[in-house]
Amino acid sequence: MKQVLVTGGAGFIGSNFVRYLLQSDEHVFIANLDALSYAGSLENLRDLIGEERHHFIQGNICDRELVDGLLKKYQIDTIVNFAAETHVDRSIVGPEPFIYTNVLGTFTLLQAARKFWLQDRSIRLEEARFHQISTDEVYGSLGPADPAFSETSPYSPNSPYAASKASSDHLVRAYRHSYSLPISISNCSNNYGPNQYPEKLIPLVILTAQAGKPLPVYGDGQQIRDWLNVLDHCEAIHKILMNGKLGETYNIGGGNPRTNLAVVETICEMLDELQPSGPVPHRQLIQFVADRPGHDQRYAMDITKIQNELVWQPRYSLEDGLRATVEWYLSHPEWVTAIRAQPNYRQWLEENYAKRVTPA
Ligand code: NAD
Ligand code: TYD
Repeated sequence: MKQVLVTGGAGFIGSNFVRYLLQSDEHVFIANLDALSYAGSLENLRDLIGEERHHFIQGNICDRELVDGLLKKYQIDTIVNFAAETHVDRSIVGPEPFIYTNVLGTFTLLQAARKFWLQDRSIRLEEARFHQISTDEVYGSLGPADPAFSETSPYSPNSPYAASKASSDHLVRAYRHSYSLPISISNCSNNYGPNQYPEKLIPLVILTAQAGKPLPVYGDGQQIRDWLNVLDHCEAIHKILMNGKLGETYNIGGGNPRTNLAVVETICEMLDELQPSGPVPHRQLIQFVADRPGHDQRYAMDITKIQNELVWQPRYSLEDGLRATVEWYLSHPEWVTAIRAQPNYRQWLEENYAKRVTPA
């Protein structure tokens, strides 16, 4: 791995991964292709200005000509595909962009890689890898006593977002089977950490509580997610790129299953301590609102495979990682202001929350 194309590298996980990879490997070069959708921002890459081993290209992964040109120009041997439409609620309101980017975009990247690596034989095939970043949501929802998802759990996606990610994973897998494209896939649980777009649960709650406004908890707040620190996720991806077997899928989880309500309450307690001048106790701001349609009840990941094969396991407890995350959001008001200034931000909050009435 020397010449890496990271797609979606101006988003939350992608920007953390770009930083992580540049720090971990002094010989790596990264071409970062991102469309700068509402969720992507150059604010997430500000500290990399002047870094010669990182080139940012604004563009769409569905643009075949552009992707072909980048593979050739940078002699790309590794593609890590983060680029996606990622918000479940948005996918329920308007699924089209999810099909376009997640399905057609991944297809475009696969076609370009196939041509560059397999047909043109532009680089040594042993050095090539296409890594697809996927989600636990493709496996569907678990009941309270069900075992955690393993790599052999059947795909059973429930939202348009999850279905589009499942679809792209199937394409990636098929390119291995049909064309011997060197691929790997990782499915991870809910990430949290710096630079996450503040319409996702954890940053939304931190910033809304800081402002003393009502904290919207969908339904009864008893849905369970397994929270993964983004830095743990980056380390896992790096290990897969270095030593993961081609053609394989790896599940990545944080080992931190919590109900949404418990996560919101923990953030409130942290803010009581870190921002005692606010509306203490912050938990008084919690408001139960109408549930997400078809809301998955529980996700959990069995990470035995990556633990055994690649000697990876998460380092962060949710409490430690969450505290660092709360502190990051409180200490980066300029980032928050810049991201919130994008017109799409307020528009989405109004659209998503206006119709959510408090249950009787
Ligand atoms: P994000 O929404 O913060 O970032 C996505 C990035 O992709 C943005 O920078 C956006 O501009 C870019 N993008 C969107 N459409 C594009 C297009 N057509 N061409 C080029 N760039 C485009 O998302 P994230 O949370 O960083 O997620 C990254 C990946 O990880 C996604 O594939 C997502 O499915 C997966 N994932 C995320 C989580 C999570 O908890 N955040 C969990 C599991 C899997
Ligand atoms: P989210 O951050 O949107 O991620 P995902 O849907 O990919 O898991 O939501 C995490 C959980 O938090 C999910 O169960 C929905 C819930 N949630 C709320 O209760 N209130 C909110 O305002 C949001 C955005 C999410």
